Amino acid sequence: MLVSPSLLSADFGNLARDIEMINHSEAHALHLDVMDGVFVPNISFGFPVMKCVQRLCSKPLDVHLMIVEPQKFVAQVRDCGASIMTVHQEACLHLNRVVQQIHDAGMKAGVSLNPATPVCTLRDIIADVDLVLLMSVNPGFGGQRFLPGTLRKVAELRNLMNEIGADAIIEIDGGVNDVTGRELAQAGADMLVAGNYVFGADNPHEAISTLAQL
Ligand code: DX5
Ligand code: ZN
Repeated sequence: MLVSPSLLSADFGNLARDIEMINHSEAHALHLDVMDGVFVPNISFGFPVMKCVQRLCSKPLDVHLMIVEPQKFVAQVRDCGASIMTVHQEACLHLNRVVQQIHDAGMKAGVSLNPATPVCTLRDIIADVDLVLLMSVNPGFGGQRFLPGTLRKVAELRNLMNEIGADAIIEIDGGVNDVTGRELAQAGADMLVAGNYVFGADNPHEAISTLAQL
């Protein structure tokens, strides 16, 4: 299982220390949650912080934009060293164009769905994206409880991808721990985001490797 710890649950007073932990862990990427207080009812961090993270982090940066009009920021996200730029389907009127812009900027393109947005809305974009991020909580905050309906959505997405012949990574975000992670692995997920489960653990390295072994 691919693992992308979410920096949102790190200690922002000790970011260098926490990123160093990630660098030496089995994590495959570092997940960065950008919020604007409009698309979601919270604000996290922006480009100056991401620039510092880029300098400190040796893992690929997996950037999750929970913002309106993400197309305005493609170049800035690229300049922060993002490998994957994920935008919300609900935030993009011209999703196909945004995905093209992300690819043109040299990044992998991800599309995210809120819990209430059905998987079928991806039918006409799935062949063009590198990653689908299914939200398993309502986005905006770390530490929420996993919504079990996500398991059915993972299976539905897997079926849709098989039908179309698409091979995007299926990434899940919100309320992931060893128990929900195992269920997600069985349902067909490829990559797990985990904030509280990793940064709230007594031994974050162990938490990351537990998920990586699923
Ligand atoms: C929520 C963010 C998540 C969050 C996950 O809006 O997109 O990435 O950090 O946190 P946990 O794993 O604690 O639910
Ligand atoms: Zn996220």
